[in-house]
Amino acid sequence: MKSRILKILRSENKIVSGEELSAALKVSRVSVWKHIQSLQGSGYRIVAGPKGYRLENSPDALFAWEFAERQSNIHYFPETSSTMDIARDLARKGCPHYTIVIAGRQKKGRGRLSRIWLSSEGGLYFTLVLRPDIPAAHASRITFLASVVLAQTLRKLYNIDAKVKWPNDILVGGKKISGMLSEMEAEADMVSFINIGIGVNVNNDPSIKEPVATSLKKLKGKEFLRKELLSVFLDEFENRLNTKSFDDIISQWKQYTMTLNQPVKIVTYRDTYEGIAVDVDENGALILKLENGTLQKVVCGDCFQ
Ligand code: BTN
Repeated sequence: MKSRILKILRSENKIVSGEELSAALKVSRVSVWKHIQSLQGSGYRIVAGPKGYRLENSPDALFAWEFAERQSNIHYFPETSSTMDIARDLARKGCPHYTIVIAGRQKKGRGRLSRIWLSSEGGLYFTLVLRPDIPAAHASRITFLASVVLAQTLRKLYNIDAKVKWPNDILVGGKKISGMLSEMEAEADMVSFINIGIGVNVNNDPSIKEPVATSLKKLKGKEFLRKELLSVFLDEFENRLNTKSFDDIISQWKQYTMTLNQPVKIVTYRDTYEGIAVDVDENGALILKLENGTLQKVVCGDCFQ
């Protein structure tokens, strides 16, 4: 209902009477008024006058009703521990493919290799629950697809030179603007679910605590609508998943990467390697040429370059 009220108020961009709204939505005027009050309570500036309602301003909040037809698959929390934890519970309980858990801020935002992900107000924090019909061995291709689509989305919407650092970080001007974390469960070697958690620094400023991080606001000197970024990304990523053409993912990733042919240090849970990043294989594992000339494949780790 809220989604439909907002759609009408936005498309008319003028005063809409309670009568018009109740006729269009087929509910009583009292019900319309209750929803308007609830929207006002959520931060929407809706002026109610003798002739009706006018929407003057919307908050950049990521309420489920802002994503119209996706609404039933969106779980929004103004604050939570980590969207990864909620998404895992939902996935284990059988939630549908493309369920999206979004947080306004996270108290225990998690990064890769047990790091903390700073998750203050203004950033975009979400986890997607995916159920692709693929072998577990191919799961990382989905995360690579997500990083390619996010880099393309950032480039297209904000005209920034977004690059991908192995495996799935996105950097602009050498500073990190986004990171991804994935968790998977499999049954009989097929993916049961793969959850991809994505953090994008939008209107927050992580550089106070992390000098090697940046945000859209820091780069451009103004604020951006997180809901626009999320909705463009969700549409594009879903389209790409549906086409199931995973073959070209790695070659597209190579097009945007800043890691290949560079000297790198790779830290895994167990080891540290130094060498030249010469290639990635069909599942995204990094192939390093070590100082002694041998090739070393790394499936999972952190890349310093
Ligand atoms: C990294 O670069 O280390 C990965 C960062 C992933 C952060 C996102 S924010 C949404 C989701 N919830 C979390 O706790 N982590 C991921």
